[in-house]
Amino acid sequence: MAEPSAPVLLFDSGVGGLTVYDALRKVLPDAPVIYAADLAGLPYGTKTEAQIAARVAGLLGRLAERWQPRLACIACNTASTIALGMVRDVLEIPVVGTVPAIKPAAALTETGTIGLVGTEATIRQAYVDDLETQFAQGKRLLRVAAPGLVQAAEAKLRGKPVDPALIADVHDRLTAMAGSGAGDGSIDTLVLACTHFPLLAEELAAAFGTGVRQVDGADGIARRIAHLLEGQSFAPSPGPDRFVVTGPLAGAAGLEGALAQRGFGAAEAF
Ligand code: DGL
Repeated sequence: MAEPSAPVLLFDSGVGGLTVYDALRKVLPDAPVIYAADLAGLPYGTKTEAQIAARVAGLLGRLAERWQPRLACIACNTASTIALGMVRDVLEIPVVGTVPAIKPAAALTETGTIGLVGTEATIRQAYVDDLETQFAQGKRLLRVAAPGLVQAAEAKLRGKPVDPALIADVHDRLTAMAGSGAGDGSIDTLVLACTHFPLLAEELAAAFGTGVRQVDGADGIARRIAHLLEGQSFAPSPGPDRFVVTGPLAGAAGLEGALAQRGFGAAEAF
């Protein structure tokens, strides 16, 4: 049984995992959390599989040694679809991953055409092919990479405006793909296959229309974590949750409001 003070470790390349943190807080308001953002490695989506796997496994090993968490969550689709198995081999605690929410999207779609927006690395993973084969038989799953949206989400949380052209580009590419396939169904369901993207839910809704459902994995992951920690006790936290970053602390500049609003202390260097 974990120490009552042992934290839950949430890990992402940047602020995307805060969408998982927000969902987790709804089901586990008292669990101590350490959020680690690998800002020195951001973005993961443009890196190779080998780079991502080595970085994520190495960093999670060091983070786990330092903070002795009771559970680790890789709150990043890119890292999870590539390195989840490897991290599970390395850590001796439960490791929860984040994978594209293709299963719920396939259950929801009425037109049978689903858009999937992720990073370049995520959308080419066999893991995603397997999810499609398993859960989206008979549906069209149209995948696009949107690296610009990762930067847009990072900027938005730092109080900067989102360039509407970035959102329009994703919309236009998906709409063109939907129109050019064998079927003629339009996209009615959008899988946000990157934890950064729910931070842009309003902007995406403005471009795609409110009739297009946005599906992400955050609530499901939060429920999974709560289930794995059922029956465990949480010591009252001696202070606010920690938000640690790799690389220069200046990388977290501008996030003060977003962190304070969620009850984190000031960003710390790892
Ligand atoms: N938040 C990450 C994900 O869910 C990726 C962002 C990045 O490219 O680093 O895929």
